[in-house]
Amino acid sequence: MTSTEASTGVPFTLNGEDFEADNGELLIDAAERHGVHIPRFCHHPRMKPVGMCRMCLVEVDTGRGPALQPSCMLPVTPEMKVETESEATKQAQDGVLEFLLANHPLDCPVCDKGGECPLQDNAYAYGPGESRFVEEKRHFEKPIPISDLVHLDRERCILCDRCTRFASEVAGDPLIHFIDRGSQTQVNTFPDHPFSSYFSGNTVQICPVGALTAAPYRFKARPWDLEAVESTSMIDTAGARVVLQSSQDKLVRILGVDSDAVNWSWLSDKDRFIYEANTSENRIVEPRIWSNDTHRSVRWTEATKVAARALRIDPERVAAIGGARLSLESQYAWTKLLKGVIGTDNADAQLGDGIPGALVLGVERATIAHACQPGSVIVLVGPDPKEELPTLYLRLRHAVVEDGVKLVEITPRATSLSELASVRLRATPGTVGQVVNAIVTESFDQPIGGVDGSRLRAAHRLLTSDSPVTMVFGRSNLAESARYIADAVGGIKRLREDAAFLPALRRGNVHGALEMGLTPGFLPGAVRNRRSVFGNWASTPDFEGKDTDGILRAAVAGDIDTLVLLGADPMADFPDRQLAEEALDNVGTIIAVDTFLTESSRRSDIVLPAAMFGEHDGTFLNLERRLSPIRAKVTAPGLCRPDWMIAAELSLAVGPDLGFASLDELRAEMSQVIGSLEDLDWDALASADDGPIIVPRRNWDLEFGDPAALPAVSSYGFRLVVDRKLWDEGTMIQESASLAKLAPRAELRLSPADVQLMELSNQTHVTVDQGEVSFDLPFVADPAVAPRTAWLPARLPGFDVRRLLAAGRSITNVRLRIPDHGESDHDGGSEVRHG
Ligand code: SF4
Ligand code: SF4
Ligand code: FES
Repeated sequence: MTSTEASTGVPFTLNGEDFEADNGELLIDAAERHGVHIPRFCHHPRMKPVGMCRMCLVEVDTGRGPALQPSCMLPVTPEMKVETESEATKQAQDGVLEFLLANHPLDCPVCDKGGECPLQDNAYAYGPGESRFVEEKRHFEKPIPISDLVHLDRERCILCDRCTRFASEVAGDPLIHFIDRGSQTQVNTFPDHPFSSYFSGNTVQICPVGALTAAPYRFKARPWDLEAVESTSMIDTAGARVVLQSSQDKLVRILGVDSDAVNWSWLSDKDRFIYEANTSENRIVEPRIWSNDTHRSVRWTEATKVAARALRIDPERVAAIGGARLSLESQYAWTKLLKGVIGTDNADAQLGDGIPGALVLGVERATIAHACQPGSVIVLVGPDPKEELPTLYLRLRHAVVEDGVKLVEITPRATSLSELASVRLRATPGTVGQVVNAIVTESFDQPIGGVDGSRLRAAHRLLTSDSPVTMVFGRSNLAESARYIADAVGGIKRLREDAAFLPALRRGNVHGALEMGLTPGFLPGAVRNRRSVFGNWASTPDFEGKDTDGILRAAVAGDIDTLVLLGADPMADFPDRQLAEEALDNVGTIIAVDTFLTESSRRSDIVLPAAMFGEHDGTFLNLERRLSPIRAKVTAPGLCRPDWMIAAELSLAVGPDLGFASLDELRAEMSQVIGSLEDLDWDALASADDGPIIVPRRNWDLEFGDPAALPAVSSYGFRLVVDRKLWDEGTMIQESASLAKLAPRAELRLSPADVQLMELSNQTHVTVDQGEVSFDLPFVADPAVAPRTAWLPARLPGFDVRRLLAAGRSITNVRLRIPDHGESDHDGGSEVRHG
């Protein structure tokens, strides 16, 4: 692996010239840095060297005479003499390639890798030109699907160990490996265990040959057909850097870019394959207006006129939900329209499943590199990062496994990082604030929230050590008030003034939305609403607005006449479905600015078609507050427009106009109005390796109260934990043909101890009661679940967990019992109570 230690200048000679390597630097990397490329297959700068392929053999003299050595395994030592072009080196390269090709099918014309294949390139540049082998080559069935997304052609595999190392070392999903021996050695999965890793697409990207191919890309394009542009993934708030590739004006491939600050070239399969949604036939491609019980297509001018009429009312009766799908520029434009032109402060980019805007904007922000620095401590009070922020998960995992970072996990259920955590505190729903408070106040005498004193003490020891502390926080449970997470953040701040924070919000560019004022009480730049002049804005709201929960309640009460859905689907995403449904039924006019007809936008009076990711230029703000570019690669279909343009058109119709007619003018205004963007070189952003971090100039201080008391013990016995899986019934996933089928079916998970206690082992289903609601669900025993809790992910096929949730509840208790029509030999209908 490339050393990141500071150079102490190790002198060595390369092809007769004197150079210096960094201390511990591998010869292959040092040579590359000094402009000498050594051919390789198995070497990858983000993985440990294995010396599998021998393609990097070079002649090395360390004082005992020249010998061929693999340069990817050899750290440079003082006075080392290296020849990469000697006769011996050339013969070695020649020989390695001849052997690699002995069994290789050379079916380049039908191979996806053709044209960008290191084996082709190396054979051409360093190979023998022809083979002496006349024997029959090895044959395997080709290709075999090893998962829903990846195909394996074993004949083409050169056994470089990259995919297998990635799966076990980087992703922690050792599902692909070598089997058999000698010339029969092959890469494969375990029988009956597909390569169902969230990160499987990375193996396709790093495979140096066409052995691993991505099902969504197979035979779609040739490298020489492709056009490419660097951009940023908008799948989650990590903001992984990507290359968008298109052919014939269609997105056909996304590859990871090696951003040192963020994703180290790795992507989740969601980042990588979600582009399929762009070409879904269900895209909204023209404005629509609801009339005579159907949506009819209209021209932009008509749609804008009707929408403007609905927006020209008492500002307190206008509200907007959403905005995380938008670019930073569009978010600014929409905030200016809503808050500066219409005058409403009822705007919220989160859908009741996030963290209060003030908390996110107010905490001192860490970078991923700061959190992951060797020897530091990370405290996780939030969702399973593998499910919600998968590229961040890979960085956190690497930090713990390779760099000695200690993890303190305080979550209601085990996460994908639990096995690596130094301290695991399983805080039952509603207790995390008090658990952190007990750590802060050193109250170790009695258990709290299901956590015993010795674990609290162990957490205290780590969190008060000399190591830097970063808290990764977010909603670990949608069936629990965000208040408890805020209490935990307050506790860590009290314990460690120097702590830094990474808010693990999930939804796309939601950090940009909050920073641009799409949250009640704020204006762009994370400044509090103020009644005085703000930039060149005509006015600012003269009342404190409502968040999504408040907006929906106000709508039910008949206090909202016009609701704008900015790429938001509250019917599907707001945790209380009944409230969302009643609210949408009660609103006078719904204006949906969207890319697909969702459950919510289907009910809208006006639908305005927006350009999607890859179809517009803009900027992304990730969870570190790092800016990076979003770039257009393909043309938006039909009459779709960038969201900022839609805001500008609407403003023109509502009056006065927003004051900008191009992206450049919009950016110039943002730099003028928002202190943290004052010195930003927008053009340089597009070519920067790692974008800059912005520091808001706040006009307010974050305050914390005392932590909420522990919730009362309920006779219902079980506390519900609801979180999200990577694959679910989200609109974008369902519109991506290859991803739509990946969501698992909903099943309740219970601790094995509870399954035994309730004598459920002969059952397949359990009846769940919550208030008036009662139903049967399949269940499994899962050691990841703490006793007396029941875990059920949201938005999975088979069951809508939001039937159990209600806005405003601090926690959700449920009762479980054997179904009345139980399949066991127990009496049906027996009710089980705990505590
Ligand atoms: Fe040809 Fe594919 Fe083999 Fe490369 S991997 S040499 S493109 S068959
Ligand atoms: Fe290497 Fe590709 Fe074979 Fe995996 S499948 S060992 S990455 S050549
Ligand atoms: Fe060195 Fe493969 S690159 S052995």
